[in-house]
Amino acid sequence: ADALKIGIAGLGTVGASLARILQTRADALTVSCGRAISIAAVSARDRSRDRGIDLSGIEWFATPMELAEKADIDVFVELIGGAEGAADQSVRVALSRGLHVVTANKALLARHGVELAKMAEDKGVLLNYEAAVAGGIPVIKTLRESLTGNQFSRIYGIMNGTCNYILTRMEKEGLSFAECLTEAQRLGYAEADPSFDIDGNDTAHKLSILTTLAFGSQIAADDIYLEGISNISIDDIHAARDLGYRIKLLGVAQKTATGIEQRVHPTMVPLDSVIAQVDGVTNAVALESDILGELLMVGPGAGGNATASAVLGDITDIAKSRPGAQKVPVLGRPAHLLEPYVQAE
Ligand code: NDP
Ligand code: HSE
Repeated sequence: ADALKIGIAGLGTVGASLARILQTRADALTVSCGRAISIAAVSARDRSRDRGIDLSGIEWFATPMELAEKADIDVFVELIGGAEGAADQSVRVALSRGLHVVTANKALLARHGVELAKMAEDKGVLLNYEAAVAGGIPVIKTLRESLTGNQFSRIYGIMNGTCNYILTRMEKEGLSFAECLTEAQRLGYAEADPSFDIDGNDTAHKLSILTTLAFGSQIAADDIYLEGISNISIDDIHAARDLGYRIKLLGVAQKTATGIEQRVHPTMVPLDSVIAQVDGVTNAVALESDILGELLMVGPGAGGNATASAVLGDITDIAKSRPGAQKVPVLGRPAHLLEPYVQAE
């Protein structure tokens, strides 16, 4: 079969890791997918920066828009970030051109996910976004495919690696909030604007996507009670511990008699609970449903390789898909059949 040609827009923490993996694992991927995956085009802001990738034979585009419009590719991989601007515009152009799209951009999906899903479904192309929630944990595929038919009552968890890393190091090593945040940025965990992490917006973006997949409702990222971790002190962490608890930033969505309740806030969790043991950049997502019961997924929540692993899974799914094969609806059910979001009273 012909090689699957991909274009990668954004060669930062995630994009550069993805490109390195695609290059170093090329032969094994060809065997697994039955066809080669080739990086045909890339784009980033600074062309002169050494990213540890062999860019010979790969077309460089000055902007993501140009890449999306002109590159000879089958899949547009968006790893830029941000709900508006370059990421939003280039994804729309790629979809309207009939390209498959893979993205790790939860801010974009939380804002425009339903519209983008409709575009993809109208064009008959795939829009895959496993890396957008909980880094390397395959929670999107689990909700979208493996647990079809279950009715969900609650989903909750630790969905931001930066915050969990900060809270863990503050508690275990007595480091200041600012020191931990700087280290999370150095390790490539934090968002370009880290206030999205520490103020809880990033968790809210992820929660809103999971809520839609679990409950079949429109994405409602603005209807989430939001409180971040910037006011948590070492004294608070120690006081919680003395009482038998740890403080975790949780996202929680549940069905009530009147609608859906979504909230993000620091939460005291009992020391002997599994979620209290989830340390560092690790994330944990609990899914409660009627047929399966409770499923807890724990794994790396951020970082170049962990995130690239999820992006790679999305790309290999496309490489393995065959024309005419049944397509999984982007948001779990066809976008035009999503129900209105009714907020719990
Ligand atoms: P980085 O900031 O490390 O990389 C962003 C890349 O996009 C850079 O290559 C940058 O170019 C390029 N870029 C930024 N703005 C523009 C623009 N206006 N036009 C063209 N190129 C642009 O981000 P990450 O790799 O960390 O994140 C990428 C995406 O993945 C984001 O949506 C993020 O939320 C998501 N994500 C990240 C995770 C992580 O652990 N880092 C985990 C899960 C999801 P240049 O390099 O030249 O500056
Ligand atoms: N900034 C995000 C986090 C990246 O720390 O969880 C993964 O989505």
